[in-house]
Amino acid sequence: MPKKVLIAYGSRYGSTEEISQEIAKVLEKQDLQVQIVDLRKTKPGDWPSIEPFDGVLVGSGIKIMKWVKEPQEFLSKHKGEFQKGKKKLGLFISSGFASIPGNREKAIQDWIEKVMEKVGVKADLYDAFGGVFDFSESSRMGGLDKRMLKMAAKGMSKEFDMKIDEKGRNDFRDWNQIRSFAEKFAELLKS
Ligand SMILES: Cc1cc2nc3c(=O)[nH]c(=O)nc-3n(C[C@H](O)[C@H](O)[C@H](O)COP(=O)(O)O)c2cc1C
Repeated sequence: MPKKVLIAYGSRYGSTEEISQEIAKVLEKQDLQVQIVDLRKTKPGDWPSIEPFDGVLVGSGIKIMKWVKEPQEFLSKHKGEFQKGKKKLGLFISSGFASIPGNREKAIQDWIEKVMEKVGVKADLYDAFGGVFDFSESSRMGGLDKRMLKMAAKGMSKEFDMKIDEKGRNDFRDWNQIRSFAEKFAELLKS
């Protein structure tokens, strides 16, 4: 019987969603059975039970220094099951700040380790991935969100010598980092 993994994510503009899909592809190649749930598009009452899964990955985008509400609620809801330690737990975020590799450690501390402490869970694997700054016409961001992100992007481009196209889609996700995270999670499940 293949081991089963649930990927539960909360994504406002699609970045964490695409990361979740890529992780699923890698896990499936490793002969794991994967189910993905978009926690924002599914009513909490319809969120899947984690009971049948050997491993659970929870992912969130970061907005105004915080996780999306739903993945944090999902973690809290199942904290008792995670605390038993019978299921492997992985956490990941997609954040503009973590787009700079040198910021990832701080992003992990602020947005993963603090969340684990707050909720009362300890993940077996976690990582912070970069984000997408989508200023293009087809962006899912509203005008206000775009303006807020543009201001942050301007600050980051000065501070970190980052090149940002103010009219285009800037994708700072490192797909090798994401795939390697997924491979490590698969190894954890097989061990
Ligand atoms: C209004 C707004 C606020 C944001 N706030 C932060 C922030 O506080 N820290 C950060 O690292 N990134 C921030 N970002 C960037 C997002 O984390 C990044 O775009 C990420 O890829 C979004 O993931 P999602 O599409 O899955 O929601 C913000 C983006 C927007 C639009």
